[in-house]
Amino acid sequence: AAMESGAARKELDLEAYTEGLEARLGKSREMMRVVLNKAKSDPKRVALAEGTDEKMIRAAFQLQEQGIAEPVLIGSRKSIERTRDRLGLDFEPEVVDPRDDDYEGYADRLYELRRRKGVTRSEAEELIRRDTNYLGSVMVEQGDADALLTGLTHHYPSALRPPLQVIGTAEDANYAAGVYLLTFKNRVIFAADTTVNLAPDEEVLTEVTKHTAALAKSFNVEPRAALLSYSNFGSVDNEGTLKPRRAAEALQNDPEVDFEVDGEMQADTAVVEDILEGTYDFSDLEDPANVLIFPNLEAGNIGYKLLQRLGGAEAIGPMLVGMDKPVHVLQRGDEVKDIVNLAGVAVVDAQNE
Ligand code: ACO
Repeated sequence: AAMESGAARKELDLEAYTEGLEARLGKSREMMRVVLNKAKSDPKRVALAEGTDEKMIRAAFQLQEQGIAEPVLIGSRKSIERTRDRLGLDFEPEVVDPRDDDYEGYADRLYELRRRKGVTRSEAEELIRRDTNYLGSVMVEQGDADALLTGLTHHYPSALRPPLQVIGTAEDANYAAGVYLLTFKNRVIFAADTTVNLAPDEEVLTEVTKHTAALAKSFNVEPRAALLSYSNFGSVDNEGTLKPRRAAEALQNDPEVDFEVDGEMQADTAVVEDILEGTYDFSDLEDPANVLIFPNLEAGNIGYKLLQRLGGAEAIGPMLVGMDKPVHVLQRGDEVKDIVNLAGVAVVDAQNE
């Protein structure tokens, strides 16, 4: 009997688990479906800097086939066509081959943009021919593509640097940041900054909060932002806790900020209704936060990875916010679906330009 009940319990747990999983995946699929449908309504040109990579070619096929984007693969034409044929993908992708002479103009443009940063004309030529992140960035800067995706085969900072140098931040922004959308059974969380700013000061935290809240809105989520720390509303005073506290104050005093925001607070205060309504009922957050702003890159990067791996969240990202044009830097090892999803996000972003 003991065995029987053990087995029954196992079955039940499994059922609950699968249900939870479905609900969670359901939520992220639903959000992505909305984004991808919006992308399909007006597909944009998305340059894939790692055009010879097998996953990028598979993603390009799906993007074109499903009408989500018009992919442009950057890289050796021969190599791309060989891989396409080996994979048996029946499509004619648009290819920009850095060895073709047609792209000489991009070296001129890169030189123009970077000559006062120590780049010579011949170095610019070299960068365009050898580093597709530069070519892709100049394409987007020039409007020859609407968005850029890269990062799959690169160390994250080396894929990020060319777009930062060439495309740069939006007019009203000084800092880029990486946001993950994490979907759980009954809620979604936008977590930032998870990939860019190593040791943000209060100004960076303030800006990252604004960008992340704007991103949440673009997903039709009403943002409620928490600036996270290890102290609650002044319970510990030091340099580390003051930064998120001051950022929260700056945002609360900014007449242009039209979303709920508070801090500094601990992570459980931010997400547990009973704590917010009980001990901290004076908080400006009426409901648990869905925009979580981490105090530094260590916390942000570790935090979202734990939520993804142990908390079972589905993660979409990293979505780069604050840039002048849509650019997303993937992580090494990301899957085709991650590329397609981020391309969809980039297209919707480009539609709003
Ligand atoms: N936002 C916007 N632009 C920036 C930022 C920022 N946060 N930081 C630097 N830049 C700009 C600079 O202004 C500069 O532009 P300029 O040359 O036109 O003046 C350009 O980017 C390059 O700046 P550098 O100072 O030369 O670059 P740096 O070496 O500081 O690199 C980088 C910037 C790549 C963002 C760096 O801060 C970094 O490595 N961050 C951490 C990235 C990382 O490792 N993430 C975690 C891993 S991601 C994952 O999960 C795999």
